[in-house]
Formats: sequence, C-alpha cells, structure tokens
Amino acid sequence: MILDIIDKKRKNEELSYVELDYFFNGYLKKEVKDYQMSALLMAICINGLTKKEIVNLTKIFIDSGEVLKFNTDKIIVDKHSTGGIGDKTTLVVAPIVAACGVPVIKMSGRGLGYTGGTIDKLESIPGYNVNQTPKKIEKQFEDIGIVLCSQSANLVPMDKLIYALRDVSGTVSSIGLIAVSIMSKKIAGGADKILLDIKYGKGALLEKKKDAQELGDIMVDIGKSYKKEVRYILSNMDVPLGYAVGNSIEVFEAIDILCGDEKDNILVDLCVDLASNMVSMGKNISLKEAKKQVLEVINNGKAYNKFLELIKYQGGDIKKLKVSNITQKYKSKKSGIIKDINALSIGKISLSLGSGRVNKEDEIDYDVGIELNKLVGEKVKKGEVLCKLYVNKKINLSILDDVFTIEE
Ligand code: URA
Repeated sequence: MILDIIDKKRKNEELSYVELDYFFNGYLKKEVKDYQMSALLMAICINGLTKKEIVNLTKIFIDSGEVLKFNTDKIIVDKHSTGGIGDKTTLVVAPIVAACGVPVIKMSGRGLGYTGGTIDKLESIPGYNVNQTPKKIEKQFEDIGIVLCSQSANLVPMDKLIYALRDVSGTVSSIGLIAVSIMSKKIAGGADKILLDIKYGKGALLEKKKDAQELGDIMVDIGKSYKKEVRYILSNMDVPLGYAVGNSIEVFEAIDILCGDEKDNILVDLCVDLASNMVSMGKNISLKEAKKQVLEVINNGKAYNKFLELIKYQGGDIKKLKVSNITQKYKSKKSGIIKDINALSIGKISLSLGSGRVNKEDEIDYDVGIELNKLVGEKVKKGEVLCKLYVNKKINLSILDDVFTIEE
C-alpha cells in the first residue's frame, strides 16, 4: 500500500482521502519511514496536489491535534506571513488592530531560518512570556483585547513533523504543501477570519509573483470549505523589509513605526495595508474607512500604548530591551544610487551573526543584527555608512561586499 501510494502520485494520479490519511497518519505513527514520506513529498512537489487533495490533506492535518475554540462572541481575525527577511509586521500590526477595537489572538512560531520568528523577537524583550494556556489566553483577550503567544505543542503536530522533513528534503516550496501547512494551523488556531501576507521574490519561499497568487487563491478556497473569510496580500521580498534585521533590533524598529516615527517606506506601507485589511474584516467596514482608523491610532499614540499594555501584561520589561554594544560600520566604496539590497544575503549574514537558528535546538543571540542606513532608491556618497552591524564579536566586513548594488 505504501509503495502503491507513492507510485500513484509519481504517475500524477489523484490520491483519495483514505490513501492520504493512511500515508500521513502512518507517518505520525512511525509506520511510514522518513525516506518513504520524502519520496511522496517530492512526487507532490513535482506533480502538485489537486484542489480535492489539498482540502482533504488540510483536514487530516487539522485532525492530528487540538482545535481551539475561544469562549467569546467577538470575531477573531488572524494574520499569517509566509516569512521574509526583516518581517516584523506582526509586532506592528497586531497592536494597531487591537487599538482600533478589533481583538487579536495571534499564535506564532519560532524561526528556523535566517532570523528569529515573531516569538523569538518577542522573547528578546526581557521577561516576556510567550507560553500561555488557553484559559490565560481567554482572560487576557477579555482584559486587553490582544494576545501574542507561541503555538501550543498540540496544534497541528502533523505540520511540525512534515515541515521538519520538508526542510531537509528540498520540498519546502510546494504550493499545495505550503497551503495545507498554513491553513491547517490557522483553522485549528480558532480564527474566524484570516489575512495572509504572501511574499514573493529573492528572499521569499516562492520567487514568482504568479506562484504567490496561485497560493493565495488556493488558501481562499480552503477557507471557503471551512466557511472562513480569507483575504491575501502579495508583497515583494526582493529587498529586506525596513531598516532592521535581527531580533531586538526589529522590536526597536516596530516601536518606531507604532510611534509614527518611521514613514513612507515599503514596510510602513505594508503594515498599514495589513492592519487596514484586518480592521476592515473585523468590523465589516470598507478598506478606506479602516485605513482612516489605522492612521488615527498611530497618530494619537493608542497603537503604541496598546503595544506597551501587551508587553506588560505578558511580563515583559520594555525598558530592558537592548542591542549589542559592539558595533561595526560598513561604508560605501562608491557614490551613486542604491539599486538593490540583496535580502537573501542580508538574511544569511544576520544568521551568521547569531540572530537565527540552523538547527531547532540552537540558541539565538537576541542582541545582534543589521541596521540598514539607506534603503533602495536612496543616494549614497563614497565613505557614507550603508549599514551598522550589532555583533558579539568583530567580523570581517568583506562579507557585505556583494549585498548592495550601487549605480554611479
Ligand atoms: N509557512 C508555514 O507555516 N508553512 C509553510 O509551509 C511555509 C510557510
């Protein structure tokens, strides 16, 4: 049966619910081996999954663990990003949305990539407790209307196992598998409405915009079969998002945006766009009206106050947030206009400084990271600082030589 199923997918034939269930739950029970699952995942990567297979596999994933149902009559709007370099949007968007009166419960993961995930960034705030029980989540939700915590271990355990295998078998970038992975977690997490931020470009899982759009359409379809409203935004990930890449350094940047101190760049625009969509979904109002409310809570300080309320409630001490005091400056070797900042290279350098994990058990250094001094499109003079590194030991700066493309 195991080999028949692999063979069927290799021939690009549709697998039934029973076959998918047998194979994936067999893997959970360790009856299907890593090499057999890897073979099926690769056949899926090459031949894709049909709509029916995607909906069936999503159900199998959801059923592998607990499904949360919060005791509230409020609409819960969740957001998910497919991940990117310098992506601190959740830290900005969640307090804005909550300050607009739309409650947010967001469970995030740790990063196993170039930088930490949202949870790692929050843990860079000394004292912040990411582990919450469903009871505590409900209480906090009623008290302050916002919770940012880590996913419970029993939420879609199938995804944890399969994702770890995809990571080491070259099968991460399958559109169908990404859709199943994301939507199973969002549905099991108890969201009523879901906003997806799908990245495309050099620093993203999917390079082509058309693939990102296909992924979005599939996830909207999965949402329909669970009667959940799903919207998606496509955002470019060729260059890092904003000025900061790391962990605590990204929290500092999130604070700047929440205070209205950072304006007119792609990160700020994306945060406003995401928050407006969430408010529009949560309140059933137009995007235009939602955007007005979003800009209002940034300008009148309510968004930043909500952020402070959240950090305090979960035990964090924002005054103790810090970056490393060992720094190095990388200066431009010529004058001109910055045409490109390679997101992938910035991510890899940030990882080498210690801001991300190569293996699950690796410890993150929260205080290291990269702060860009200029963004794409800006002018730079020879000798001017292009970026500042926060490090735990001095490094050879020549690793930055290919990151910036400057045209004279
Ligand atoms: N994010 C997820 O949660 N799963 C994927 O497969 C890809 C991105």
